[in-house]
Amino acid sequence: MNKLTITQPDDWHLHIRNGEMLKTVLPHTAQQFARAIIMPNLKPPVTSTQQALQYRNEILLALPSESDFKPLMTLYLTGSTTTQDVKQAAECEHIHAFKLYPAGATTNSDAGVADPKTIYPIFEAMQQFDIPLLIHGEVVDHDCDIFDRERVFIERTLSDIVRQFPDLRIVLEHVTTSDAVEFVKSTANNIAATITPQHLLYNRNAMLVGGIKPHYYCLPILKREQHRESLLEAAISGNPKFFLGTDSAPHQTGSKENACGCAGCFSAHAAIELYAEAFESAGALEKLEGFASFFGADFYRLPRNNRTITLTKEPWLVPDSYGQGEINITPLKAGEQLAWKLEAR
Ligand code: NCD
Ligand code: ZN
Repeated sequence: MNKLTITQPDDWHLHIRNGEMLKTVLPHTAQQFARAIIMPNLKPPVTSTQQALQYRNEILLALPSESDFKPLMTLYLTGSTTTQDVKQAAECEHIHAFKLYPAGATTNSDAGVADPKTIYPIFEAMQQFDIPLLIHGEVVDHDCDIFDRERVFIERTLSDIVRQFPDLRIVLEHVTTSDAVEFVKSTANNIAATITPQHLLYNRNAMLVGGIKPHYYCLPILKREQHRESLLEAAISGNPKFFLGTDSAPHQTGSKENACGCAGCFSAHAAIELYAEAFESAGALEKLEGFASFFGADFYRLPRNNRTITLTKEPWLVPDSYGQGEINITPLKAGEQLAWKLEAR
């Protein structure tokens, strides 16, 4: 196969920051995706409907003039989120979910929730108003090994949330383990998961063998090969519980190539091409469209997109960096070749 035309995809998990960084990264997403779920972990976090609408305006202003890309906004859960906040968000057409960050789990999660049990009344309200809960599923206990944090979160925290709120729509974001895949498969249809390109393409050797490679460092951290294989199997399975969410998370090159480097991979420059590479490696390109363009929209109860995009088998070289002036971002596969290219690049 040398050409692949699919319904235009959406990105169901995206970080685009604000200010100059936003202006640099947003056009990359807008040229591929029709819509994206925008993560609220700014500094300070986006915790109210009013803040989300302001952020949405900033995004719309940063879009290339011809673009009709739609940012789908989310709110950041804190210990101070109220049921009134939930009601207001659920009634706003631009807000599509709440995001739970266990406090300290990842970039800009300090304002998150230390113990999710303390906000069960808020989950109750989310269930009642039928607005999805998006979860960064890792425990933060200092005695829990970083490679076990997702599995332990599922055992200790997520299973109980799913039990207590059987009608709450939940997305376990950026799953990285076979434990997560099995858990999601075993639950009802209101529980889904996003999968990133890096977790489909790489295992932890990419990050640690032959020198430490900070541009592969993201959270949840890359796992061993057996987990990558089960993620790929889930992605190509046609099971609508698994859909595309890049978790593209830009940081300045200097903040990643650092004695204490930030977590996050920037993949928006080539997101759909990276997924195409992963699906092709499994001989399952025909399964890309459901994963990238149908299942997420169905889960969020939004219409599927009408337009199409075309990928061509045409190698191209990923630049060493993106951005100008103050901004310098090292993308995933910097300086390497990609096999697929989005037409009109
Ligand atoms: C994300 C970021 O940089 O905002 N980083 C990451 O490694 N994925 C936060 C997140 O989604 O965990
Ligand atoms: Zn993320």
